[in-house]
Amino acid sequence: MDCYRRSIEVILQNQHSSGSYVASPNFPTYHYCWLRDGSFIAHAMDRAGEFTSAEAFYRWVGRTIQKYGDKVEDIRQRLDSGLPFGKDDVLHTRYTLDGEEVTVDSAWGNFQIDGYGTWLWALAEHVRFSGNAVLLKDLIEPIRITLQYLDLVWQLPNYDCWEEHPEYLHLYSLTTVFAGFNSIACLQEKGLIPESGIPLRKKAEQIKEFLLKYAVFDGKMVKHIWPARNAKPPQPIPQSGVDASLIGIAVPYRVLTLDDPLVKKTIQTIESDLLRPGGGVYRYKADVYYGGGEWILLTAWLGWYYVQIGKIDEAKKLIAWIESQASGEGFLPEQVNSHTLSPEHYEPWLRKWGPVASPLLWSHAMYIILINEIKQTQAK
Ligand code: BGC
Repeated sequence: MDCYRRSIEVILQNQHSSGSYVASPNFPTYHYCWLRDGSFIAHAMDRAGEFTSAEAFYRWVGRTIQKYGDKVEDIRQRLDSGLPFGKDDVLHTRYTLDGEEVTVDSAWGNFQIDGYGTWLWALAEHVRFSGNAVLLKDLIEPIRITLQYLDLVWQLPNYDCWEEHPEYLHLYSLTTVFAGFNSIACLQEKGLIPESGIPLRKKAEQIKEFLLKYAVFDGKMVKHIWPARNAKPPQPIPQSGVDASLIGIAVPYRVLTLDDPLVKKTIQTIESDLLRPGGGVYRYKADVYYGGGEWILLTAWLGWYYVQIGKIDEAKKLIAWIESQASGEGFLPEQVNSHTLSPEHYEPWLRKWGPVASPLLWSHAMYIILINEIKQTQAK
């Protein structure tokens, strides 16, 4: 089976008529569209030349953000008056496929900022790949809302990209905000969208300085940061160890360059702690979700980094492993559980939510991105 063509098919078949992408059609808990997953899926479609699909997603996000955009002014007022806000006062991390907030599960951690940063980054990439700058005119309002929202909340604790640890700030989430600000600044500088009133380059620089000051320990980046508390400045939390999502600091968000010593040491630690020799990449050492297996999307993400630093053979080994994990129907799962980090935690999740999500559209997306990254490099 041609895993690449099949991946495109799986994504297109699972795009809703509204433009949203379901996270996984066969896993009830994932019958929604996350901005995080969706933005990478749309980016994969852009890389594959499926611009219509990607555009439909960006438009869906635009409509959805606009629908709930009044929340941003409300948050501003609450912050200005020192009032707290609740989990439903923020812009949510996921929506129904029609673009409604999810109300069935009141315990879900809605406050996750990374999807909003990634959406802006992916949208700017869409314009770069497709040349479709006209789209931006229709999305000016949701772009403005997103920028204002991120500007207001980026220093507030919220859930990380694995929907955990709402008490901390997260390096990965902040890298997405950095990229979101910079990508839109770039579009403004090209005259493709009007100024937003927020000094975006300066804000991005502020986030970078923040990360260099508070998210470095022992020569590498950390996953979690304590927010400022009672006059105490923020602090890195080295005990959390590395997380494979930290690759994002270089690829694709470019907070730091590929050859930055901090990037190199962080990735070396990801390789030694989270890459199973001959296998895939774990999220983080203490992961217990479905026993903590190897994640397809993170394996492809490491491959994406390898291609950019010229380690094509290493990337190809990861591709081969990913392809060997496809089911008979050509589905790529969220994670592979033959070598879990905490095997005793597998069964309880199986009983709770059923078999691991498969296909996971985000897994297919990262694989598509990696294949195209190699093609692009080899065509140079
Ligand atoms: C992951 C999220 C993801 C969601 C939908 C969760 O288990 O932690 O990163 O967005 O699934 O795929």
